[in-house]
Amino acid sequence: MQGMNGMSDDRSRTRPPRRERRARTAPRSRAGGEAFTTADGRTLFLRPIRPDDVEALRRGFARLTPEQVRQRVFHRMTELTPDVAELLANVDPDKGAAYVATDAEGEIRGEARLYVDTNVEGAEFALVVDPELTGQGVGRTLVRRLIDESRRRGLSELWGFVLAGNGLMLDFASRLGAKREAVPEEPDLVRVHFDLRDPRIGADD
Ligand SMILES: CC(C)(COP(=O)(O)OP(=O)(O)OC[C@H]1O[C@@H](n2cnc3c(N)ncnc32)[C@H](O)[C@@H]1OP(=O)(O)O)[C@@H](O)C(=O)NCCC(=O)NCCS
Repeated sequence: MQGMNGMSDDRSRTRPPRRERRARTAPRSRAGGEAFTTADGRTLFLRPIRPDDVEALRRGFARLTPEQVRQRVFHRMTELTPDVAELLANVDPDKGAAYVATDAEGEIRGEARLYVDTNVEGAEFALVVDPELTGQGVGRTLVRRLIDESRRRGLSELWGFVLAGNGLMLDFASRLGAKREAVPEEPDLVRVHFDLRDPRIGADD
């Protein structure tokens, strides 16, 4: 993915030290969400997804690279159809939750969601970040929000399926404290999971 969007070399030359790269959540809520600052100083807004996000979701999807789409949905997909976007924007709170990170214009720059599995007191998650904003702490902010929401629901585990070749996501999840395990029936996938009973998961590092 990094090769495909051609951003990795520039980023590695200009990346500030790790501590400064972390997105910081700001206490003030503005423009329909909680403001936070990306590592490169942009202000984004974190909020639950809304029914009127359909068109913004479709535009956000259109900005993803083909590789990001494959990493997110595991197959080729050229467009987010209105029907699917409608489903994604209307989350049944009993079944899950979804959050978006928007810019000041309301464009969706990151999206993350969880689906609760009541059989195991856990939830499956997935996320994607606008290619122009990867490596800036947006994914980390979104995952922390999912962890908080999962704990609020009393869940003990949050897991996601990741393509085995998606080293960026695997490393990203590991840095946030996730463990990995093979998926015997799907050798192309790795299951990453957060133990929500561990207080270190989701804590500031
Ligand atoms: C994986 C993904 C969600 C990460 O989101 P992100 O916003 O880039 O993540 P963050 O910026 O919070 O990254 C956290 C760490 O990874 C590093 N990182 C993330 N993307 C990077 C990139 N493209 N190049 C270099 N480093 C990167 C960050 O610098 C940061 O490092 P640190 O922990 O040492 O501070 C994003 O790359 C993405 O949308 N991938 C495609 C979809 C996908 O794979 N989804 C997973 C299916 S569940």
